[in-house]
Amino acid sequence: MNTHLIQKYNVPGPRYTSYPTVPYWDETPPTESTWLANVRATYEATRHQGISLYIHLPYCERLCTYCGCTTRITVNHAVETPYIDAVLTEWQLYLDALGEAPLIKEIHLGGGTPTFFSAAHLQRLVRGLTRGARLSPDADLSFEAHPANTTDAHLQALYDVGFRRLSLGIQDFDPNVQRIINRRQSFAEVQAVTESARNLGYNSINFDLIYGLPLQNAHTMAQTLAYTAALQPDRIAFYSYAHVPWLKPAQRSFEAFLPSGEAKRALYEQGKQSLEARGYREIGMDHFALPTDALHRSAQAGTLHRNFMGYTPHQTQLLIGLGASAIGDAWTAFAQNPKAVEPYLESLRAGRLPLQKGHVLTDEDLVLRQHILALMCRLETRWNPLLPENEVLNQAQERLQELEDDRLIEQGPGYVRVLPEGQPFVRNVCMAFDARLWNRRAASPLFSQTV
Ligand SMILES: C[S@@+](CC[C@H](N)C(=O)[O-])C[C@H]1O[C@@H](n2cnc3c(N)ncnc32)[C@H](O)[C@@H]1O
Repeated sequence: MNTHLIQKYNVPGPRYTSYPTVPYWDETPPTESTWLANVRATYEATRHQGISLYIHLPYCERLCTYCGCTTRITVNHAVETPYIDAVLTEWQLYLDALGEAPLIKEIHLGGGTPTFFSAAHLQRLVRGLTRGARLSPDADLSFEAHPANTTDAHLQALYDVGFRRLSLGIQDFDPNVQRIINRRQSFAEVQAVTESARNLGYNSINFDLIYGLPLQNAHTMAQTLAYTAALQPDRIAFYSYAHVPWLKPAQRSFEAFLPSGEAKRALYEQGKQSLEARGYREIGMDHFALPTDALHRSAQAGTLHRNFMGYTPHQTQLLIGLGASAIGDAWTAFAQNPKAVEPYLESLRAGRLPLQKGHVLTDEDLVLRQHILALMCRLETRWNPLLPENEVLNQAQERLQELEDDRLIEQGPGYVRVLPEGQPFVRNVCMAFDARLWNRRAASPLFSQTV
């Protein structure tokens, strides 16, 4: 990979799990009634597609210092019951608003560490979620698991309520890298969880790996990739480490040991080559899958979708987020719950949806959203350049000239296609279409670097 291109395009940029991205949402969030009106309208228009549910379970017993997610560190497990009660109350408020039992296509338990919760509590949570709904026969139920605290009881309890997919947070297998990010899990633990899950009947196992962590080098990466290949996960999320110390001060503890931008990109190239040599195919941004996995099949069929949970084969337009910090996406509007647990619980005790932030999309947002999504999922997008509402897209093309000159994309009237060499820079391509980013360049840093 050309170093000059990395330097040129390694600028702060969003991951585009939504458009507009969170920092550019309206200053005033939608009221509960506006939000629910958007939820209902999208639900009614797409009832046949079904809905997706994301549940944020924020607790972890210890802080992994690299982590950019919303977490609450505690060893007090008495927090589990009131939290699950609140999530089920929140779900009931949505069921009341929908007025019928919705078809569920997808449930994802994210965190934090969902396996912080006991197996029995997780089962109660999922039973409570599915009681008032209809679970689609092809529904995809998945959870994030920490290899060091995922027990056979967790795997069994979730299998019994329909879970067949599991995502293991690995990040890196090297003991020195693990130590510096305050994380500990051995290869033996990962192997044991992976094998138990497969023996039980889980049919899609994902590993989260990160490149760009402190103390990583070509040798540690080769070792991590070899351990990963030995266990043959069906999918691999190969994330670029997001360094956002203004949001996550613990990341400062290892700042001096971070690889340079160039070394980081070399780690990505090494990972990509090694995974492709082992039969994995790159999907959109950050993801690899075996050809037998549903994610790869949907990428091939052009039906890949992306939402706050990342890439998914399910084309649902309504995503309901439950739990502290969870984001809901009604396609025409977004809403986010407070990040802290206390105001989240308080609001539900009072019987109110705990909305803290949100955004109702304008007509222009809706046009741009569709094309940014197409680029992230299919690496190309097309439009009619003569329609007045598409003028904003025609104008965005001027900002793509440099990427075109560098042979990272090709474009013409009404189309843009990301070339294979441009795939690592797909975020930069989307940024050209991000009118809100261009209209209001923020003074303070908002995003991690794109590379
Ligand atoms: C919320 S975490 C859940 C992991 C699970 N709690 C565990 O400990 O195994 C989801 C994933 O986000 C990714 N992630 C978290 N912080 C990140 C960062 N700063 N940069 C890149 N990826 C990050 C990690 O790969 C992580 O596995």
